[in-house]
Amino acid sequence: MTESADQVEIELARDADAAEISELSRRYIEYGLRQAYTPQRIRELIRHRSKNVVVARAARRLVGFGIMSYGENSANLDLLAVRKACRGRGVGGKIVAWLGKVATTAGIALLFVQVREQNDIAIRFYQRLGFNRVERIAGYYQGREPAVILCRNLRSLLAAAPSPPAAPVPRPLPDSEKPR
Ligand SMILES: CC(C)(COP(=O)(O)OP(=O)(O)OC[C@H]1O[C@@H](n2cnc3c(N)ncnc32)[C@H](O)[C@@H]1OP(=O)(O)O)[C@@H](O)C(=O)NCCC(=O)NCCS
Repeated sequence: MTESADQVEIELARDADAAEISELSRRYIEYGLRQAYTPQRIRELIRHRSKNVVVARAARRLVGFGIMSYGENSANLDLLAVRKACRGRGVGGKIVAWLGKVATTAGIALLFVQVREQNDIAIRFYQRLGFNRVERIAGYYQGREPAVILCRNLRSLLAAAPSPPAAPVPRPLPDSEKPR
């Protein structure tokens, strides 16, 4: 990819993106673990009303994705990945800024993320975006690997957002409507 992040569009994922998102998750995030984010699971998340699954596209090619869950007072960045060949050009930062803007619009001030402790690159990436380490949880990943928990105050993220997305603001889902 030769495009800069300016030429990358962030948009809500469609069902047709599910298999590719699942494959990127398996390759870049869930490696060495039992895969939880199957194409079927991704399709459920795309339809879930208190979550956003977004993709980054460059010339229509899917180059990255992010999945966010929205709660009452905080949001959680569940997954984020950028294709290896497309890294270091601001795509990951743009996805986080887009999702952060949605959360801020919904009145949410705190954004949490969990990272495998061995994933130094992602930890440095999040710290660069203003996240701070708040906790370490042993055995977080399938009882086998620790997670580092990082948190960011979203009000400062807003200032760094490249452009405000016209994104739908998700509403918390009543238990009766949650996917099983
Ligand atoms: C983490 C990840 C999403 C970053 O995506 P990216 O598009 O390369 O990130 P950006 O280009 O937007 O970088 C934003 C900032 O993070 C920092 N950063 C990114 N990669 C870095 C690296 N390898 N080492 C140190 N800092 C790094 C940069 O300093 C950059 O700031 P700058 O533009 O001021 O220099 C990407 O490396 C990735 O997909 N990794 C595999 C999946 C993963 O680990 N996901 C996170 C856990 S769910």
